[in-house]
Amino acid sequence: MSSASLEIGSSLDACLAQAVAADGTLADVAKVIAACAAAAIAVSEVIGRGALAGDLAAQGEQNSDGDVQKFLDVLAHERFTEALRGAPVAEVASEEAEGVMLLNAGAPLAVAIDPLDGSSNIGVNMAVGTIFGIRPTASSPENPLGSFTGPGTLQLAAGFVTYGPATSFVLTLGDGTQIYTLDREQRSFRLTHPRIEVVAAAKEYAINASNARHWDTPVKAFIEDCLRGAEGPLDKDFNMRWLGSLVADAQRVLLRGGVFLYPGDNRKGYAQGRLRLLYEAAPIAMLMEQAGAGAIDGERRILDIGATGIHERVPLIFGSMDDVACVAKYYGGRNAAAGRSPLFGQRGLMRG
Ligand code: AHG
Ligand code: MN
Ligand code: MN
Repeated sequence: MSSASLEIGSSLDACLAQAVAADGTLADVAKVIAACAAAAIAVSEVIGRGALAGDLAAQGEQNSDGDVQKFLDVLAHERFTEALRGAPVAEVASEEAEGVMLLNAGAPLAVAIDPLDGSSNIGVNMAVGTIFGIRPTASSPENPLGSFTGPGTLQLAAGFVTYGPATSFVLTLGDGTQIYTLDREQRSFRLTHPRIEVVAAAKEYAINASNARHWDTPVKAFIEDCLRGAEGPLDKDFNMRWLGSLVADAQRVLLRGGVFLYPGDNRKGYAQGRLRLLYEAAPIAMLMEQAGAGAIDGERRILDIGATGIHERVPLIFGSMDDVACVAKYYGGRNAAAGRSPLFGQRGLMRG
């Protein structure tokens, strides 16, 4: 929805109504987003009770990705899929379900969802989230995964919820990225950031540094150059963050820039990293691009990649455009300093 007309403080419902008035084809998408928002408020209220809500980290079965499901993973999965059952959604691809879930036969939309992102933060009062991407239904008996195998550019909308000190709803309908903040008294999301514009470059990177010995060469070289700071070829000192929750790191990048990396590495099962294309990388990539940032797998634009399975993993690097372009140079075999004349070396004569 065009932020030109969005008024700060407006409710999400009012903003969605405005978007639909401007473009009637968004009517069904708006209903799905409203359903996600309602589920997010309910989940936020459970999370906000912490240990008073019981042991939210209690362990259950393993999910399809081999992760042990926690009580809150399952609760979020149930709340969101129940809410989506009441919206024009035919299919759901959820992290917490092995295969595609069939909801309303003949409905026009399909939703890929990570009901609870950052599960390792459950039970220790750290930020967690929910991530979703909305696509047109395109499955058929011959191609049962058809709604989910196209590139991320087919997404009609994407969003994530951050259950942090505040609960925020980050959303794009393809015309900019907005942030809504939960008004707990009104039990509704209200517009606080009408159009996010990510700074072109910053001095912060996010990566799980404990995996350094497993990284591929381009990532090792990039992080080494970050660690060399202003004395190295990147000419600036960096700060590091790693929040253990993709949505929390993504929200920080949207608001103050920087670059996030979850690359492939040589641990067993991590050749394509840890994050899933359909319900983590592709929605985040749409939100980042709509905010003037970038999202790649090292070489390819995330939104150009089609999935072959609903839990397929992909290396994910996103953030400030210039910083992502810098990482891409390392993957392309040319590090940031590669094109520099000797005069612009580590302590070049011509340093600015
Ligand atoms: P999920 O809880 O949905 O499996 O997602 C966790 C992801 C992501 O949120 C986070 O950035 C990453 O896993 C953390 O991975 P490590 O624990 O390997 O650092
Ligand atoms: Mn996740
Ligand atoms: Mn999850």
